[in-house]
Amino acid sequence: MARSDTTHRYVLGISAYYHDSAACLLRDGEIVAAAQEERFTRKKGDAAFPDHAVQYCLDAAGIDIHAVHLVGFYDKPLLKFERILETYLGIAPRGFRSFMLAGPLWMKEKLHVDRQLRRELSYDGPLLYSEHHEAHAASAFLPSPFDRAAILTIDGVGEWATASIGRGDGSDFEVLQELHWPDSLGLLYSAFTYYTGFKVNSGEYKVMGLAPYGEPKYVDTIYRELIDLRDDGSFRLNQTYFNYLGGLTMTSGAFDELFGGPPRVPETPLTQREMDLARSVQVVCEEVMLRMARTAHRLTGLDNLCLAGGVALNCVGNGRLLREGPFTRLWIQPAAGDAGGALGVAQLLWHRHLGQARKPCCGQDAMKGSFLGPEFDDAAIERFLESAGASYTRLDRDELTDRVAALLANEHVVGWFDGRMEFGPRALGARSILGDPRSPRMQAQMNLKIKFREGFRPFAPSVLRERMSDYFDMDVDSPYMLLVAAVREDRRCPLTAEQQALWGIEKLNVPRSDLPAVTHVDYSARIQTVRRQTNPHYYDLLKAFERRTGCAVLVNTSFNVRGEPIVCTPADAYRCFMRTNIDYLVLGTFLLDKRTQSVAPGEDKWQREYVLD
Ligand SMILES: [Fe+2]
Repeated sequence: MARSDTTHRYVLGISAYYHDSAACLLRDGEIVAAAQEERFTRKKGDAAFPDHAVQYCLDAAGIDIHAVHLVGFYDKPLLKFERILETYLGIAPRGFRSFMLAGPLWMKEKLHVDRQLRRELSYDGPLLYSEHHEAHAASAFLPSPFDRAAILTIDGVGEWATASIGRGDGSDFEVLQELHWPDSLGLLYSAFTYYTGFKVNSGEYKVMGLAPYGEPKYVDTIYRELIDLRDDGSFRLNQTYFNYLGGLTMTSGAFDELFGGPPRVPETPLTQREMDLARSVQVVCEEVMLRMARTAHRLTGLDNLCLAGGVALNCVGNGRLLREGPFTRLWIQPAAGDAGGALGVAQLLWHRHLGQARKPCCGQDAMKGSFLGPEFDDAAIERFLESAGASYTRLDRDELTDRVAALLANEHVVGWFDGRMEFGPRALGARSILGDPRSPRMQAQMNLKIKFREGFRPFAPSVLRERMSDYFDMDVDSPYMLLVAAVREDRRCPLTAEQQALWGIEKLNVPRSDLPAVTHVDYSARIQTVRRQTNPHYYDLLKAFERRTGCAVLVNTSFNVRGEPIVCTPADAYRCFMRTNIDYLVLGTFLLDKRTQSVAPGEDKWQREYVLD
């Protein structure tokens, strides 16, 4: 039966076919739902058409596709194809093999996006396209809390643009400057991601986490050989060292020679060289971001800056922009990568194409805390628990909050599944694994026994917004965990000469502050501030933990294991809980104790080990 709704106007935004496909639905301009396809298909970064995400968005609004007024797609396939074709023609025959590999996919999927989108959606209404960086810019400015702001988008590549500077004013924005392919900060960072043995498009975060262990000893080499950086932040990359134009890898033989050998083989031990490379590219990346931000400030004369594009997930760089850049206020789109393009194009169509006014409200952004995904009520959770044969207790909300605070204070690790799933790559207290940041054992325990991942990466703290400056050298909202700041000096532990001499990852075992689980080796932390308004249950839990311990901070890491998308459903959460060493699981108002879960002998449905990627 068709579900229609003639009293409202709906706009559906879609990003797909590159990486991290997603859908977003607006009702009369308000964001009612947004989600990434990977959460439903359980394939990390799924680039397929977001069937499930679209269906979820329509279900959340109680409509079917016929009620949608307008559909938007986040880039222009023909323009992108033109870039690919020109690139390959320009370097033929060097790029021929790579073109033959990539070409058929483009011909099949990307050139026929219009026909394909209509078929996938069973939709015959208006279908419009934005440019890729326009979608990023729209996702940065239109949902921001600012009336007017400078806009900076930086990523790998869309059609031709790899970075843009814009000015947002009221209900629209204009693009003032663009940097074009093949000069791309995202691709420079990805080249080092590849070279240090991590996965391009998802391992960039690991490079950023590794950087504090290294020395910036390759910075001069990068400036001398790889990048010709101008004062205004624009640059040229020396393509001799890269291979993404014509080859099948990111870096060339000349790059290997310059940095003293072939790329690290993935999963082999990390050495000081990778740490120094990570530190060096991070330093260069921050410098480019700072120069671009200064140019954006000069061109717009405005004090607010909005950021999006994959590079805006570099929260160390964002922290420096806030401390050292010319802007007073920063707002970063939580789904800064390509998933956020779905939201960007939908809002662009609503405001620009349909000419609807934008009303930023009382300093609040329009993202609803980024809690825009599926939710499950207690009845649905109970049905699942019964079907899984789980052992559980149902508590009232206050009792649950107190019990969980007590469990956390006793160094138990808790899987916390509450309300609507987050849109974007960070868990913000709806699909999170929580722990006590004061515990010296917590970091190693959560890394090795729960996340099954490299021990060098720090965990992030959630902190009550009003207590932030008691712990960190920062006092601004950071609701989406996209800003890094230093742990306050008076909370740091001085190092002995012996500890100072420790090498690389050994440094991590030395407590750096009275919050050792969330303090990186350079005393930094990737902070999420929590307000009751956007996240009441999580706020109350932090408050209960504070009442019990005096500490207003929790370790918050995403509810998944390495290589897997964040959990979406109660079944995903239960599976992750049973396969890892998470001690307790909270699903809505239900509490599960690992020790009381019975698994029949020989039944390995839940206990199969995860395969590491
Ligand atoms: Fe992008």
